[in-house]
This record gives sequence, structure tokens and C-alpha cells, in this order.
Amino acid sequence: MARCWGVIPAAGAGVRMGYSQPKQHVLLGGKTLLQRSLQALLGLPGMQGVVIAFAPDDPRAADYRDTDERVRIVQGGAQRADSVLAALHYLQEIAYNDDWVLVHDAARPCLAAADGERLVTQVVAKGCGGLLAEPVVDTLKRVDADGYVQATVDRRGLWRAQTPQMFALGQLHSVLAAALADGVEITDEASAMEWGGHPVLVVPGSPSNFKVTVPGDLELAAFYLGINREGQA
Ligand code: C5P
Repeated sequence: MARCWGVIPAAGAGVRMGYSQPKQHVLLGGKTLLQRSLQALLGLPGMQGVVIAFAPDDPRAADYRDTDERVRIVQGGAQRADSVLAALHYLQEIAYNDDWVLVHDAARPCLAAADGERLVTQVVAKGCGGLLAEPVVDTLKRVDADGYVQATVDRRGLWRAQTPQMFALGQLHSVLAAALADGVEITDEASAMEWGGHPVLVVPGSPSNFKVTVPGDLELAAFYLGINREGQA
């Protein structure tokens, strides 16, 4: 079985949620979003350990320190990519260059085991890094600054990137570090690999693996998780 490691960037402020605490710490059915994302990663085949990047001043990091011997904690950075790079630096010390690493957002708590397993199986079979994604189904409009439609964009071949995104550890570490040093704007791991000229495989995911971003998303996440939100903390 392929050796895999998980990385969860959890150092964001999540300001669009409008809560006093970052969204990864919001409770849903008695568990935080981060606990749910962590559980999903730890359950994947071949998973050796998961590194979580927390904001430097986040007191909740201590809650995760000794919960599972496979969980490690590092300090995150100013942007998501900096947080991921900090976790990859750590992994370089304890893992092999050709181990696989799966980077997964803390804010995607509904990752289904079948989706994660499909990603691992297909990436390992092809020997090529990849990500879960969904085809775009809506008609797309390009809109100008005044709110008027400029054009309808052809959606054929367009996909919405999700996480986990899975790449060989050594390659992802060096490409991400080089891209950041070059000042490239990196919004996900795949964009760094594209910048580096590496092929990236798209593996079909599910709508349930969406990113919790605004308060209404918690209802949707509860629905996908089969949780009744009545009366919970
Ligand atoms: O803000 P957004 O939803 O795009 O964040 C995606 C993920 O990246 C979240 O899990 C968030 O905690 C993480 N992040 C991070 N470090 C940052 C910014 C975001 O780990 N500086």
C-alpha cells in the first residue's frame, strides 16, 4: 500500500463566516469542522500521519496536540500556501520524498471516504499527482464592474477544484517553495504544480465535499453529515 501523509492548513481567520472564532473551530454535531476533516484524512488507506498548520496565536492548537499519535502540529503562515509549505517542511524531516501527501482544507468537513479513496487509487495507479474536482454545471457569465454581463463563458472543460490534492512530497515541496519565492499567487497545490510544468490528474469528486465559507453553509454541511443541528452547542 502506498505511504500517504495528510496536511491540513488550518491557520486562516475565516472572516466571511463573521464569527468570533475561525471557522475551522466551529462546532457541528459536537465536533469542530477541523476534527471532522482530520478524521476523514486519518481514515484513508496508507495514511501515516497528518500535520495541521495552526495560526501562531491559536490557543486551540493544544487541543489537537496529544489526541492521536499520528497528528502533528506546526505553525502556519500568512497565506494558505505558506501554511502548507510549513507543514511540508516538517514532513521532509520525517517522510520520504516519494511518499504521497494529501493537502485538505480544514473547512471541508464532509469529505466522503469513497471520494478520498478514489483519489488515492487513481493517483497511485497513474503515478501522477491529482485532485478531486467537480465539473461546472451552471452557465457562466463574465460580468463588468458595473454589474452588466459582458459574455457567456464556454463551460466545457471547466472544473471546480476541491481538496484533497495529492502529490509526491519531495516534488510538491520544491515546486511550492520555488513558486512562492518567485512571487506567484498560489491558491491551491495544483496551481503550483501547473506553474512548475507538471501534469495534474483530475479525479471526479462529489458536491458534498464543498468548502464551508459563509454561515448558511453550516446547514448544508449538517445535512450532508446527517446531523440535526437543533440544540447543539
Ligand atoms: O479562507 P479559505 O476558505 O480559502 O481557506 C482555506 C483553508 O486554508 C482553510 O482551512 C484555512 O484555515 C486555511 N488557511 C491557512 N493559512 C492561511 C489562510 C488559510 O491555513 N493563512
